[in-house]
Amino acid sequence: MKRIYLGTNLKMYKTNRETVSYLKELREKTAAFRRPELEMFVIPSFTALPEAVAAVEGEIKIGAQNMCWEDAGEYTGEISPRMLKAIGIDLIEIGHSERRHKFGETDSDVNRKVLAALRHGFTPLVCIGETEADKAYGVTAERLREQLKLGLYGVTGEQARQLWIAYEPVWAIGVGGKPAAPEYANRAQQVIKETLAELFPGCDQEIPVLYGGSVNSQNAASLMTQPAIDGLFIGRAAWEAESFAAIIKQILELCESRW
Ligand code: 13P
Repeated sequence: MKRIYLGTNLKMYKTNRETVSYLKELREKTAAFRRPELEMFVIPSFTALPEAVAAVEGEIKIGAQNMCWEDAGEYTGEISPRMLKAIGIDLIEIGHSERRHKFGETDSDVNRKVLAALRHGFTPLVCIGETEADKAYGVTAERLREQLKLGLYGVTGEQARQLWIAYEPVWAIGVGGKPAAPEYANRAQQVIKETLAELFPGCDQEIPVLYGGSVNSQNAASLMTQPAIDGLFIGRAAWEAESFAAIIKQILELCESRW
C-alpha cells in the first residue's frame, strides 16, 4: 500500500507556546481523517522540540531542522544526535536550501550529517534542489545527481531504506518563490528516483521523494497526482493548523483511489 508524506518545516517562526498550540489544533483538526498510510510530520525550532514531542503523543512525527555530525565536542552552538535522541526525535531535516544558501552548508557537510543521522537510527530528510541559474543553464538533472551522489556518499543499501528525500528547487521556496509546474517537478523527481535506483539498486522503491516549494491549497492536488511525487513538504501554506489540515484532507480524498 502506497504511503503519502505530508509535512511542514516551521522554519524560525513559532515560539514554544505557539508551536504547542499549533500542534494541538492540528491534531484536533486532522483527528477524523488520520490513517496509517498517511505519514504526517512537523519540524519545529529546536527550543520547542521537547514540548512538541509531548504535545503530539505519537500522533504526528516531529523532526529537527538540523543536527551536528558529531556526538559531542567543541562545537559551540550545535545540537548533537545524542541530544535529539534523548528527547524522542526520529526525523532530521538535512541540507535545506536555507542552510545551504544562508549558512554555507556544503554537500560534504550534508554527507557527514546524513551518515551521523543513519548511525544513530534517525530518518534523514535530505533536501536537494537546483538554483535559478542551474535551471537557466539546463543543468538541473546534473545538479540533482551531484547533490545526491555527494550527500549520500557512503550510505549502504540497507541504510538507504531509512532515507527520505525532498526535492525543493531553490527558486520555488519562500516569499517570492514560484511553485514548480507539476510536470517540471515530476521530471526532476524522476531524475532523483533514477539516481537513487542507480545508487541503491533494489532499495530505491522504498525511498520517498517529496516536493517542496510554494505548495498551497491551489497547487497541492496537481502536484500530488504526478507519479514521481510521494508527498509534499510545505512551508507558509501549512503554518496555520486549519490550512494545513485542509490541504491534508484534500490530498487524502484525492489519493483514496491509490489505496
Ligand atoms: P514554502 O512552502 O514557504 O515555499 O517553503 C517550503 C520549504 O522550505 C519547506 O522546507
